Amino acid sequence: MTRWCKPMAQEIPLEGFEPIDRPAAATARACSNVALVKYWGKVDEQRRVPATGSLSVTLGGLTTETTVAFSDREGPDLVVLDGRHIGGREGARVSIFLDMIRSVSLLHRLPIGAASVRSANYFPTAAGLASSASGFAALAGAAVRAAGMKASFDTLSNLARLGSASAARSVHGGFVELVPFKRENGSWDARTSPVASENHWDLRVLVSVVDAGYKPLGSTPAMARTAATSPYYDGWLGSWGKDLAEAHEAIAARDLERLASIVEHSALKLHALTMTSRPPVQFLRGPSIELMHTVWDLRSSGTLCAFTADAGPNIKVLCSPSDEERVRAALMSVNGVQSVQATAVGGPIDVVAHDVDPAGSWRTMSADNVEKDAEPSSSERD
Ligand code: PMV
Repeated sequence: MTRWCKPMAQEIPLEGFEPIDRPAAATARACSNVALVKYWGKVDEQRRVPATGSLSVTLGGLTTETTVAFSDREGPDLVVLDGRHIGGREGARVSIFLDMIRSVSLLHRLPIGAASVRSANYFPTAAGLASSASGFAALAGAAVRAAGMKASFDTLSNLARLGSASAARSVHGGFVELVPFKRENGSWDARTSPVASENHWDLRVLVSVVDAGYKPLGSTPAMARTAATSPYYDGWLGSWGKDLAEAHEAIAARDLERLASIVEHSALKLHALTMTSRPPVQFLRGPSIELMHTVWDLRSSGTLCAFTADAGPNIKVLCSPSDEERVRAALMSVNGVQSVQATAVGGPIDVVAHDVDPAGSWRTMSADNVEKDAEPSSSERD
């Protein structure tokens, strides 16, 4: 039987996978995450190794559930996201990711063919919130198990990172660090470590949706532009270690006031970098800035909270559960804010194997019975 397994351009992580029974399908559920200390820039684009360390909190209410079934025959993969067929560049990105799993399987003499991938995002609103983190974490977990293998969280995390760097942090729950390091042979790699579990600190993250539209530029090209043109990039590379150390201390002490100052500093440094790239990249919109002022006003009047913003205009605000309603009301009062949804700290990836494919046999499915020509979501433009 011939196998469809394209040669990989990137280095495949071959270690850490153990063959077990091959189920009919496997489903993984993973939460999204938001970085409290951000990464921005890569030292190895192909292997998606971030140039700086980062530390995230897992977003329990923003999850992706993905079911994967492998056939024994070669052929194109079928990728369906939220009921719509994903083709083109995004479909290819998923297939290239699956090729790594096919290669690892082959190494273990467990050849597998084309895949059926069905994925659904359970996000508070269809609001252009980044789903690549939860998406690639869930895809890694489901595909490895569906291929008849198991792997540790660390191995899954390394694999997920090759789909999207922030996905590495979504494998673990709670507060998670992702740090680059140099191997003895001079190549770059990165590792994730859980910093504190989801039960360590009962925090809320309020996701304030400002604009569900597309980003001006995907994060990968924006990072490359920043690294090449922002005069502040060296300062960014030289200052993340201190931010990370302080965030560790603040989280260990459950000190929101201290964490607030690091979280906002890290986010604002990132946005200063993109704004000072040539040509500039401005992810924030008017209401994003107003939301930042609202958070500062709340803090000056005694309500502890802190904002962060990624490669988009939406603002995420940290606060304690007892302040959730007050903070939500203040954020909702800002002109241009479409919705505010609260989420608690989420747990790690969850993987379940099925004797029978719950989505139906991949053979009976075709791209004809799903809606075609899905528009790329903003996260897909990463
Ligand atoms: O790894 P990506 O392509 O999802 O990019 C993530 C970039 C930020 O969200 C802005 C920072 C971070 O550390 O998550």
